[in-house]
Amino acid sequence: MTSTPIASKIIPKATRVHLDPNTIDYTSDRQRNAVEALINEFTISTQLLQDVKANFMEGMNKGLQKDGETMAMVTSYVMGRLDGSEVGSYLALDVGGTNLRVVAVHLTGGGEITTRQTKYRIDEKLKVGEAKALFDFMAVCVDSFLDEHQITVRGDTQFELGFTFSFPVLQTSINRGTLISWTKGFNASGMVGKDPVAYLQDAFNRRHIPVRVAALVNDTVGTLLAHAYNNPDTCMGVILGTGCNGAYIEKMENITKWKGDASAKEMIINMEFGAFDKERAILPLTMFDNKMDRKSVNPNKQILEKMIAGMYLGEITRNILLNLIDRRLLFEGNISADLNQMWTFETAYMSTIEADSSATLHATRKILESTLNFPSTTMNDRQIVKVIVELVGKRAARLSAAAIAGILEHTGAWKQKAAIGIDGSLFEYYPSFNTDIMDGLEEVFGPIVRQNVSIGLAQDGSGVGAALCALLAAKHSN
Ligand code: BGC
Repeated sequence: MTSTPIASKIIPKATRVHLDPNTIDYTSDRQRNAVEALINEFTISTQLLQDVKANFMEGMNKGLQKDGETMAMVTSYVMGRLDGSEVGSYLALDVGGTNLRVVAVHLTGGGEITTRQTKYRIDEKLKVGEAKALFDFMAVCVDSFLDEHQITVRGDTQFELGFTFSFPVLQTSINRGTLISWTKGFNASGMVGKDPVAYLQDAFNRRHIPVRVAALVNDTVGTLLAHAYNNPDTCMGVILGTGCNGAYIEKMENITKWKGDASAKEMIINMEFGAFDKERAILPLTMFDNKMDRKSVNPNKQILEKMIAGMYLGEITRNILLNLIDRRLLFEGNISADLNQMWTFETAYMSTIEADSSATLHATRKILESTLNFPSTTMNDRQIVKVIVELVGKRAARLSAAAIAGILEHTGAWKQKAAIGIDGSLFEYYPSFNTDIMDGLEEVFGPIVRQNVSIGLAQDGSGVGAALCALLAAKHSN
């Protein structure tokens, strides 16, 4: 059992050890030219950062006006703000990242929280099989969690559960909605247009599991709420992990498509910003991005997400390496059977390579030779791999900065004290991701942004946020 307040903390991770491409001893001019061309293609200039931000803001405005726009700008039905004094016990089910998690959350007030949680692996087959089987699996996980932690209810009462379902869902109430599309490698059949809460509740009921789905929550909304629980200046929740997306607090009068209760002053909007630029109007897509997109389970969708999120960065990098190998500019034109397989170059390897500070690039060598089974590598090979990894990683962080800058500009939040809660493996573990984002924001807004805006890790935003949302739902219905 852990007893930790959700606080912004100093992020304990490695920093990038930059490799200056000018120090590489190139084997040929062709090799130098190829690397320089990649640098050109992958570098996000300050001007492009500004242009993407401006385009992004237009997308936000369109999505606030009507449904069906590229950025869905989903109304979350979360209208109240938190002040940290909230108390209660809730269950949270978090689905949408690499693992499924069940969390028992106890809010003790004063911004304090205790949690117990168990992670479960979702089999790849379940992700793309029958929807019913996937939801049955979720119910079984909750059931075994209650057993494992010996959590019981009195009499015929029910647990209230916040369901973090981190996919684009058009919400129709705090605990109802319809799935717009699957993302992040999920593609369970028969779900698009259906209500995930109805499927989950049905799976609970059929098993007589005493749980009521009280709130349907996107992980970004949960992250915003979790961060706000002890940081009331929080204006935005962002996920930079397997997928990416953001949520922020919008003034009701700006949500012109909203037809519901307008008595509240503001509402959290789940932007679904990973879908930005489906039109391919502004993002600097390369042939390596396009190749990965075509082979994904959702081609032509989630274009920004595919340039930022952890699920995709390794595959983009692999595509670049393959291209250089095919042109005999890397590894003397030889490929390993492992690297030849799609999705084998994990984003986690990129973190290790970015942080590699040894003179011989020892950690990079280990990944290439021991994990990916290249019989041998030269220093030149390893240097080029490191430069490529940095290009892909930095582009992801700078595009995240462009999106965050768009939100800060739209709301004007950068002009005052504002806190941003970010969760997700990329933000937590990828070297220098947070520094790159802050540098990008400074390029857009100037040094004042560093004084006004703080970015903090909102660890476990999805779990705690779902509980907070269930609590707000109960408050609202009373
Ligand atoms: C989903 C979002 C989610 C994000 C981060 C995206 O693929 O569409 O709903 O917030 O991933 O998990």
